[in-house]
Amino acid sequence: MNTIFSGIQPSGDLTLGNYLGALKNFIPFQDTHECYYCVVNQHAITVPQEPAQLHARTTELAAIYLAAGLDPNKATLFVQSEVPEHALLGWVMITTSYVGEMERMTQYKDKARKQGDSIPLGLMTYPPLMAADILLYQADLVPVGEDQRQHMEITRTLAERFNYRYGEVFTVPEMWAPKGGARVMSLQEPTKKMSKSDDNRTATIYLLDETDDIVRKIKRAQTDSESVIRYDKENKPGVSNLLSIHAAISGKSFAELERDYDGQGYGTLKKDVADLVVGELEPIRRRYHELVGSPELGRILDEGRDKAHAKASVTYRKAVEAMGLYR
Ligand code: AMP
Ligand code: TRP
Repeated sequence: MNTIFSGIQPSGDLTLGNYLGALKNFIPFQDTHECYYCVVNQHAITVPQEPAQLHARTTELAAIYLAAGLDPNKATLFVQSEVPEHALLGWVMITTSYVGEMERMTQYKDKARKQGDSIPLGLMTYPPLMAADILLYQADLVPVGEDQRQHMEITRTLAERFNYRYGEVFTVPEMWAPKGGARVMSLQEPTKKMSKSDDNRTATIYLLDETDDIVRKIKRAQTDSESVIRYDKENKPGVSNLLSIHAAISGKSFAELERDYDGQGYGTLKKDVADLVVGELEPIRRRYHELVGSPELGRILDEGRDKAHAKASVTYRKAVEAMGLYR
């Protein structure tokens, strides 16, 4: 059975973008693949975090994974910092990386710019840690949103470089991105991606938003003055974003949607998108509130940690033996 690995940072409230671009697509794989899904809290600390908040968000994110449909009997759910091999192989991957290739990473450049004069070094060594996450499980496939493409390419480069130097230790993973929801855009500035860290909360639908908020935000979404419902990312980014959200949930193609909405106004489209999003998120929100404080969640994470550790330690041992680090 092929292996899947993916992770989400517990660094803010999860958005509809995280859900349609990543989380929702994790679920079907659990029936066909050996799956490892991780709360990557060591990635979150590449920028300063308040400890109590990080602690709370870690279990909240685990509850969200389960509420979205992750079944702990099928997939392994765990917290990155509880499996020490991530940091250990992360160091190995740092020593396999070049400064130049890390400086060229778009996410590094974006995040570094926001940090002023004191850029945490971890922002630059973020991709080798991500590579370690994936390679420890010998993952074949990594479901992520489109924004992670560059990180996936560097992961493949590091795996190939390591294998070339020390022998075939790691599986070189492929990225898997969904067609429709790979990049959900801001509702207010639809040329920017919908982001956890947007200051304008009207621009973002959060996974745990109440129904009224979801409806209000979609009603206020930016469109254009043409009044034609057509997918055209370049000239009609707002309408195209609503169509992609629709498609990602309804499973319809853009051509089908254009036909369905022929001659209709933006109000109708917004109402339908709001209904779809509410229908999708409402049960997740309900299950989340049942799970978040429950003792069951702790047990699931303990078991996940042990299963993840069993696999990760085998790969780590192979890697350090190949490098001459193991006596
Ligand atoms: P992050 O919020 O950076 O931890 O991202 C977690 C996952 O959500 C990654 O797989 C991202 O690619 C995905 N993601 C984040 N924002 C979006 C978005 N606006 N549209 C689609 N996918 C996204
Ligand atoms: N970099 C990813 C993000 O920001 C999170 C992440 C860390 C990840 N390690 C990973 C995703 C391993 C997939 C696989 O979204």
